[in-house]
Amino acid sequence: MSHHVERAPGFVYSRVGKNIQRLSCERVSLLELARRFGTPLYVYSAQAIRERVQAFTQAFSDVEHLICYSVKANSNLGILRLLSDLGCGFDVVSGGEIERVRRLGQPACRKVVFSGVGKTVPEIEAALEADILMFNVESASELSVLARCAAKLKRRARIALRVNPDVSAATHPYISTGLQKHKFGVPLGEARKLYTRAAQSKYLQVAGVSLHIGSQITDYAPFAAAMEIAAELVRQLNRDGHRIRYIDCGGGLGIDYRHGQASHGQSISGYAEAIIGPLADLPLRLLLEPGRSIVGPAGVLLTHVLYRKINGEKKFVVVDAAMNDLIRPSLYQAEHQIVPVSISDCQPEIVDIVGPICESGDYFARDRSVPAVKEGELLAILDAGAYGMSLASNYNSRPRPAEVLVDRGRVRLIRKRETISDLLALERVGLKPT
Ligand code: LLP
Repeated sequence: MSHHVERAPGFVYSRVGKNIQRLSCERVSLLELARRFGTPLYVYSAQAIRERVQAFTQAFSDVEHLICYSVKANSNLGILRLLSDLGCGFDVVSGGEIERVRRLGQPACRKVVFSGVGKTVPEIEAALEADILMFNVESASELSVLARCAAKLKRRARIALRVNPDVSAATHPYISTGLQKHKFGVPLGEARKLYTRAAQSKYLQVAGVSLHIGSQITDYAPFAAAMEIAAELVRQLNRDGHRIRYIDCGGGLGIDYRHGQASHGQSISGYAEAIIGPLADLPLRLLLEPGRSIVGPAGVLLTHVLYRKINGEKKFVVVDAAMNDLIRPSLYQAEHQIVPVSISDCQPEIVDIVGPICESGDYFARDRSVPAVKEGELLAILDAGAYGMSLASNYNSRPRPAEVLVDRGRVRLIRKRETISDLLALERVGLKPT
């Protein structure tokens, strides 16, 4: 097996027989995990997550910074605990995500930034009660609602306005956010006026500027362009008499789904240069909101081959995972590498790898050359640690997968497999009026 499919340090092949190699996670056999916990199964490597956090810390070591991991990428409590123990704060976007961080304890809450265009009053109140670090406010109306909530609870909310820098980033249209036409942030031209308004409320404390231009961005230039704009705004705001202490740079650094990353450190340091450069002369604390680049390559989705079939020209490999478990290929045409967990000398063949859901959009790979696999064999869908389980649904009444975290050879079930009873628990046949 060529080296580039591996996702070291989490997932690497080792030789187990003359012509057989097996993929394992931190030396724990994935075959064994699949046997023990069933499939589809998400498996994460703690060591891979640690290394990526360290790479960020290293790359930004010259500047004051806090990594506010973006909870939406993978919100499992076991993963959040690991990240919190590594010193990370969190970027949250809902009451549910706030509650997840609250479960880690009050100190974790003080490192939270709250983003999102549609914060509700109960969510804002929960964030105020939790005494989070900063609200990233996305509209004039939200600013008023936040001031009112803070007055009611007699709290002072630290705020940043999320500005829309109108910078374009080459990524999938669904996950590009930094253009005027997108729903995010306030237009740059209106920012100063809103900061002035915010400063007039005694329940709001102007603390920062925030922005996020999109996700899965692999070119550093748009980050640098956005930071130039943000730096200029910070200078202007300071001249206006505000004291801007934080700059929230958002997330968005992409990963290489096709080849894996020989050196993640390198991509993170290129990113750091792009971010830090434009801010050099400003005394700011950087907040970073990486999601995918921390957890993406640290997870795989294991799935068994159920059936092989041929329809005319096409060969299909039907697996037991589906678009409800990992929607990225269907939703963003993402191409996740898919590899057999055991490989011997088999010829590659061109196949579609598809799930059991009743939609043609339920596929993981189309016309892809993969080593020939037999029914019953185990496959690993790589780079599934971000926006995999967090976007999973129960479509077709399929219980969501279990999740396992491997840490230095220790295996922890961090989420049990859902059961069909779990799925039905909130429903009523409901003939009697309630
Ligand atoms: N900060 C904000 C304000 C965001 O909206 C996001 C992601 C992040 C940080 C984290 O971005 P990251 O570092 O993970 O790129 N489901 C899509 C990605 C949606 C991203 C949404 N916002 C996917 O699977 O590609």
